[in-house]
Amino acid sequence: MTEYSFMISEEKIFAAKILAIDDNILNIEILKKILTQAGFINITTTTDPTKAVELYKELQPDLVLLDINMPKMDGFEVMLQLSILSDADYLPLLILTAEDDYIRFKALQSGAKDFLRKPYDRMDVLLKSRNIIEVRLLYNQIKSHNASLDHQINERIKEIRDTRMEVIQRLAIAAELRDAGTGKHIYRMSRYCQLLASAIGFTKEQSELLLTTSPLHDIGKIAIPDSILLKPSALEAHEFEIIKTHTTLGAKMLAGSNSVFLNMAETIALTHHEKWDGSGYPYQKKGEEIPLVGRICAVADVFDALSSVRPYKEAWSFEDTIDEIRKLKNTHFDPKLADAFCDIKKDIKAIHDHH
Ligand SMILES: [Fe+2]
Ligand SMILES: [Fe+2]
Repeated sequence: MTEYSFMISEEKIFAAKILAIDDNILNIEILKKILTQAGFINITTTTDPTKAVELYKELQPDLVLLDINMPKMDGFEVMLQLSILSDADYLPLLILTAEDDYIRFKALQSGAKDFLRKPYDRMDVLLKSRNIIEVRLLYNQIKSHNASLDHQINERIKEIRDTRMEVIQRLAIAAELRDAGTGKHIYRMSRYCQLLASAIGFTKEQSELLLTTSPLHDIGKIAIPDSILLKPSALEAHEFEIIKTHTTLGAKMLAGSNSVFLNMAETIALTHHEKWDGSGYPYQKKGEEIPLVGRICAVADVFDALSSVRPYKEAWSFEDTIDEIRKLKNTHFDPKLADAFCDIKKDIKAIHDHH
């Protein structure tokens, strides 16, 4: 982060943009003369208060010298419009008035920072102008400093998110590589999850969360012995029972975290093999007892398993796999999710074909 000094140089003060609004041309000339002689170089004037807003927008002045008693539009009306325009910004407003105390107090209450009495006293004009300009320039400096801090913080947050995503992806790939995969399954599967989630109304943030957490669905396979996980021939019943434990083992690995992120990954690891009709594992949960993210992952996982080559099988065609998803609704899959998945098959195909 860069060193920052909140100092305003003389040069900047004298280069400040000044806007003077007074219907009396003589008053304007006097002010202009005082300011110019002192060294201010950037002065714009108008005798027409209806132009105030337009000029303020255009110039973004660091000091506005404003008369109160003017025809067409008085100083209070101008102040009101400038306050709306400048929103929560510091409004550098110096009121010019020969009026009584009541008017001056009203002006201060309405947002003026100070006032100058007519006829003008040279020192009064210069000191008060300078004070307001200094505050305004400091305000601008802090504002842009904050914006740059915000930018830096956002960059860091993005970096942390990206790293987190990458670590998780790599962890998931480690699990998949043990399972003789290539890492592509989790890549596609997590994108199918994200698409399906947005199709059923997840917010962008929620579906991105699912994109990041779903790759961990099979993380429990890390704890399954090679002799079973990599067995080239068909599994015995007792061996399949061990394979099934990748769900509970995965959940155990991810359990007990405070992160929303790992909590979701845990739910997915535990429930991605449950089936809508209650015939899945590990807990034979049924219908909506199965968490929604688990149901989404079930569709995406099976779709990818069927539509891609595995050591023990050919890849099914895209259309055959879609038909199968449709067939398995109400038994394996939540019917609404199966339908939604088939409805977005164009988007699914784009990922399927590309990867
Ligand atoms: Fe699995
Ligand atoms: Fe999988």
